[in-house]
Amino acid sequence: MNQDEKKQKAAESAFSLVLPTLNKESVLGIGTGSTTNFFIKELNKTKVDIKGAICSSEASKDHLQESGIKVMELNEVHGIDVYIDGADEFNSRFELIKGGGGALTREKVLANSSKEFICIVDDTKYSGLLGNFPLPIEVLEVARSAISREIMRMGGKPVYRQGFITDNGHQIIDVHNLKIDIPFEMEATINNIPGVVENGIFAKRTADIILQATDSEIKTLNKNQ
Ligand code: 5RP
Repeated sequence: MNQDEKKQKAAESAFSLVLPTLNKESVLGIGTGSTTNFFIKELNKTKVDIKGAICSSEASKDHLQESGIKVMELNEVHGIDVYIDGADEFNSRFELIKGGGGALTREKVLANSSKEFICIVDDTKYSGLLGNFPLPIEVLEVARSAISREIMRMGGKPVYRQGFITDNGHQIIDVHNLKIDIPFEMEATINNIPGVVENGIFAKRTADIILQATDSEIKTLNKNQ
């Protein structure tokens, strides 16, 4: 199976898991990226009668159009029942790196507002120590160089994501070579640098369930079991 096929299998598995739990009052959170797009495809194929969906990006909102599901904003609801999203890296503590697609800030807001966060990944995303995938940081444009200097003092190599503007109107720095041995601390430390909007470490709010596609099966990893 190639990586795309695995992403599709993980997304289909999430759809099967979530579908029986949904009702007319359910609010679904939907992330961003190629794995999540496979999940959206399932929503576009099967009529799902729910209150609405909240997306972490304008791109995902566009993809969801065909589903007939009402696209809502987080401010209109009291919370999200279940949030589905991919990741760039995950570890055995259900901590993640996200933001390869640049939607990390809204993704973290949605994950944090969700009763349950189901993360859909293929097995290439597993890492014992987070940081193989360059860590995305959304920054205010005026603070980009100052933040980059701080990051270098922390041992990271910041690379400006040229020509990319987030849905929130900000820039992204991708940080290479950062040793993220205590993700919870690193997440807070980076967010404490003035001008940082958000960083892509999800350690304060981890995933609850990880559906990991391998060549032969979908592994369901549950944080509470
Ligand atoms: C977007 C994300 C994505 O979830 C992450 O980049 C994984 O993407 P893909 O499913 O395309 O591999 O965090 O900001």
